[in-house]
Amino acid sequence: MAARDLGTFIRALPKAELHLHIEGTLEPELMFEIGRRNKVKLRFKNADEVRKAYAFSGLQSFLDIYYESAGVLKVERDFYDLAWAYLERASQQNVRHAEIFFDPQTHTARGVDFQTVIEGLHAACRDARSKLGVTTKLILCFLRHLSPEEAMKTLEEALPFQEHFEAVGLDSSEKNRPPGLFTKVYAKARAAGLKAVAHAGEEGPADYIRQALDLLKVSRIDHGVRCAEDAELVKRLAAEQIPLTMCPLSNVKLRVFKSLKDHNIKSLLAQGLRVTVNSDDPAYFGGYALDNYVETQKALKLGEEELAQLAKNSFEASFLSAPEKAGFAREIDGLSRS
Ligand code: HPA
Ligand code: ZN
Repeated sequence: MAARDLGTFIRALPKAELHLHIEGTLEPELMFEIGRRNKVKLRFKNADEVRKAYAFSGLQSFLDIYYESAGVLKVERDFYDLAWAYLERASQQNVRHAEIFFDPQTHTARGVDFQTVIEGLHAACRDARSKLGVTTKLILCFLRHLSPEEAMKTLEEALPFQEHFEAVGLDSSEKNRPPGLFTKVYAKARAAGLKAVAHAGEEGPADYIRQALDLLKVSRIDHGVRCAEDAELVKRLAAEQIPLTMCPLSNVKLRVFKSLKDHNIKSLLAQGLRVTVNSDDPAYFGGYALDNYVETQKALKLGEEELAQLAKNSFEASFLSAPEKAGFAREIDGLSRS
């Protein structure tokens, strides 16, 4: 068969996005628009100036500006507009399903009610299903730079709205904040019927991945790139088919890898790990889901078979039902044969 354009193939692949912070989809233009509506003064003059500030030395330097920018979000409509803008864009890239992180503590600390956040996000997700055919699930993340007690308070505040979210997660500054600190709040979340995921092994050591699995009992690991430093762990992740939600463009922007050519996703895929491609905070890192696939393909020379496997992994690693997963797998197989 003649080699076809891999960009076209990637575009045609149905994709699930499993590692996406909704606050990280706030494009500078929308930031200014919402800021104007809410009379929040920004320290930047215009969108270009904001983008110029996006030169990061590591995770913390990004988080500082990310939390600052989220300060424009105040009322339900803001959260709706934010999520709707992402979902429309994702849909144009043939993202059919998105499992979306949100950070309630970033907002409740500023006096915005949990209910305002969840109802705005939920309304956009409901509209995405009916108007775009994109399905979603929400994942409530605890900020790990804050205390386990504050995480527990957040969970208690959130449980009355449990029908609107599927899982809990753990994000923010990873260094010196081991997952084990959050064992109790995860146990309570799981007892309530929620699923669990956690960021681990982005800037933190491979041992944090083990802790997330053994102490928090997560069903997938967000990032996980540093598993490669521990051969036994790599074997375990392959044997147990633990999904890793990787974010190649994020990893380069935050200097986890020097360049995309140095990324370990291709090698881990070859070793049988269930790795996936995601965008993390696309408004800050220079690309949405499709861009992550395209850039990674170019840098690592991924072939059609590897790309199809990555897309299949994205559904297999999701919280969709078995028949839904099987439907997407068939659709991807059909594309690969055509
Ligand atoms: N890591 C940790 N916390 C985050 C990230 C990330 O990549 N993005 C948004 N919050
Ligand atoms: Zn993340």
